[in-house]
Amino acid sequence: MDVKKDIVELLVRLTGLDEEVLTAAVEVPPAGMGDYALPCFKLAKSLRKAPQAIATDLAERASGPDGLPPSLDRVRADGGYVNFFLRQSAFTAGVVRATLDAGDRLGTSEEGKGKTVLLEYSSPNIAKPFHVGHAFTTILGHSLARIYGHLGYPVVRMNHLGDYGTQFGKLISAYLRWGDEEALEKDPIAELFRIYVKFHKEAEKDPALEEEGRMHFRRLEEGAVQEKEIWQRFRDLSLREFERVYQRLGVSFDNYNGESFYSDQIPAVVKMLEEKGLLEESQGAKVVRLDEYNLPPCIVLKSDGTTIYASRDIAAVLYRMREYGFYKNIYVVGTPQALHFRQVFAVLEKAGVPCAQDCIHVGFGLLKFADGKFSTREGNVVLLEDLLGQAVAKTHEIIVKNMETRGQDSSGEEMRAIAERVGIGAVIYTYLKNGRERDIVFSWEDMLDFEGDTAPYVMYTYARIRSILRKAAESDQTGTATDEALLRLDLPEEFDIARQLDGFSEAIRKAAEDYEPFYLTRYIGMLARVFNKYYNSYSILSAGDPELVRARLALCESVASALRIGTWLLGIEVAERM
Ligand code: ARG
Repeated sequence: MDVKKDIVELLVRLTGLDEEVLTAAVEVPPAGMGDYALPCFKLAKSLRKAPQAIATDLAERASGPDGLPPSLDRVRADGGYVNFFLRQSAFTAGVVRATLDAGDRLGTSEEGKGKTVLLEYSSPNIAKPFHVGHAFTTILGHSLARIYGHLGYPVVRMNHLGDYGTQFGKLISAYLRWGDEEALEKDPIAELFRIYVKFHKEAEKDPALEEEGRMHFRRLEEGAVQEKEIWQRFRDLSLREFERVYQRLGVSFDNYNGESFYSDQIPAVVKMLEEKGLLEESQGAKVVRLDEYNLPPCIVLKSDGTTIYASRDIAAVLYRMREYGFYKNIYVVGTPQALHFRQVFAVLEKAGVPCAQDCIHVGFGLLKFADGKFSTREGNVVLLEDLLGQAVAKTHEIIVKNMETRGQDSSGEEMRAIAERVGIGAVIYTYLKNGRERDIVFSWEDMLDFEGDTAPYVMYTYARIRSILRKAAESDQTGTATDEALLRLDLPEEFDIARQLDGFSEAIRKAAEDYEPFYLTRYIGMLARVFNKYYNSYSILSAGDPELVRARLALCESVASALRIGTWLLGIEVAERM
């Protein structure tokens, strides 16, 4: 419902001022001062009147013969302000109707039409454990991909696998020396991690190993068959492992063009930078100086002629530009890599590549464990799989206990499926609950609190509404509410829900604009809260006459719809019962 537009239209008619000026001026005042307000102080000059006089005059004429738009109840002057009060039931009815009519399209828009957004996220390093740090980029990127998609942007989801570099030379060397075939089949990442750690230990004693590793990488870059085969095997096995976690999270990608994919495009990058006279020799390496950006030089080729992380990223931007002609090229990568991306983008800008400005690094903080209590399998890294497993197991315990207290049957497969959704939802919600640059302090208690600002709370609210709607269907209290009936929604609590519902588009828009899904997390958390407040004070199914019941059911249904779509945009899948 665009009540603000109604107000602006009214004001344009009354003042003759510019629509844009008035849109910027109308604001949401503190509670009790009306639903919208126009401060008249800035208008004093153009209208040549004191703010107070302007306010009195506008309030009077607004309430005059031409009348208020149907969405407004009254207008009042208060000092230098004009305060606007919505006609609450009309507003509520309008929002409910609009939400139900929108269905799955709630919050969608055309703004992204034809503007391709590339979202690069997850991007783990192959042969390494998939730890909780990679969960942040995976969850954040996945949510942003859905958000941009919902706003109509064609989205390309990319997994820039860390599948290249000197470390693979070392790994090949380690594999040829100490690799255990059986262990590799059984638990590939653990085995690769084991020989990698061993390599480093041995190399301390015997520095010649380092040279051997570099040799294998050089051979890999040159396309040697043996190296290529071993490397391909590491990559396939790793992906197979990662895929398990992706499936569990419901995450997918349009391509897995990792670092290796760009390696043969480096000569073209080098040529381009050379032609522009940007490449300089420094201690045998080839670098681009970035003094004017106050950045350290960006190394493009190492002294032994092999490529490096940054050069592969430069090649990737050029490739993506050719392949997709992107509107935005977004990197969801931890904040510690901010300098790396500033260098890469600066090199491109210096080379006069126009799309350098459309490359965006979206950083995020760290995950910390409040109580230090987390059993880990591999050294100090917490594996995402373990985190998800524990979340689901703990959720299962809670749900079973809740059901037993309610005297319900808690056995069976359905409970497991519900616990899976809720447990994973709880993890996702925890990552997306606050601004992404803040560190996350992880606590089981907080994240599984069914009364807290958590996924279980939101999901439980959804399931509760679905249960009401099921009961309504069972007792034949269905049928669509007419517009007339919806006007019966005149409680202040119903108006609060409608105001919150009305904010869906704004929440998704802001989430996209700032690359901050937490606007949506906050939105659905608040929606669940205002709904429960209402639900705890009023009955839905025994509200009295059938018209009122139908109206309230319609309100419930619109809340459920916003919760379902809102959580989906975060990457959370609701459960129909809990
Ligand atoms: N593989 C890297 C890591 O795990 C992240 C890759 C980020 N993306 C990029 N285009 N550099 O730290």
